Amino acid sequence: MKGFFVLFLLVFLFISPMVGAVELPSPSLEGEVDLEKVISNRRSIREFSDEPLTLNQISQLLWAAQGITDPDNNFRSAPSAGALYPMEVFLILGNAEELDAGVYRYKPEDHSLEIVKEGDIRGDLRRASLGQRAIEQAPINIVITAEYTRTTGHYGARGERYVHMEAGHIGQNIYLQAAALGLGTVAIGAFNDGDVASLLDIEYNPLYIFPVGYSQEFND
Ligand SMILES: Cc1cc2nc3c(=O)[nH]c(=O)nc-3n(C[C@H](O)[C@H](O)[C@H](O)COP(=O)(O)O)c2cc1C
Repeated sequence: MKGFFVLFLLVFLFISPMVGAVELPSPSLEGEVDLEKVISNRRSIREFSDEPLTLNQISQLLWAAQGITDPDNNFRSAPSAGALYPMEVFLILGNAEELDAGVYRYKPEDHSLEIVKEGDIRGDLRRASLGQRAIEQAPINIVITAEYTRTTGHYGARGERYVHMEAGHIGQNIYLQAAALGLGTVAIGAFNDGDVASLLDIEYNPLYIFPVGYSQEFND
């Protein structure tokens, strides 16, 4: 009995960091830059330094993508047809302070991360994306994926169009939040859907990849 308990404890201690959720710091609701300046300065960035991102920066970016901004109604940062929220957002972490490399799922309901897979998959993700270097260079990538049926179940075939429009809204939020934080990103639409889905171990449809980091140009 004692042996069983020790075994259980060891298994629990070994497994719990992998299945445990990572609480993210609360996002800031006050930026330091004017929106107009951010819109005007936003550019696609494809060369990144290897400077790690902080958990605060990651928290802010994910909140901008899909964070809950109206807890009474569970409405999020980006508009969604019928408030059906067909997207699942994944964080591909390569180099960050306070968090190990891995694939994480963003959970808007409690602004936390759930580990999906351990290890740095940026090289594989780059290979699944026509070898686009930004993906491997950037310390993190945010992958927007969709479960179409959440929206097509209500709106029929037209729902597919709505899902794609929503990916655009989310993407622009990521672009603007990155620019406001002094970071850069690029919207990546060119990748092999099946390869990306199997790398992330997901049934959802990957729509967009956003590498995010410090622009190499700012550090030259
Ligand atoms: C739907 C979509 C897909 C894109 N796919 C890629 C891509 O695979 N690789 C890339 O380097 N840029 C990609 N881009 C970024 C565009 O090349 C970029 O927005 C364009 O050159 C204009 O530059 P700007 O974003 O700095 O204004 C994509 C943009 C959109 C909207």
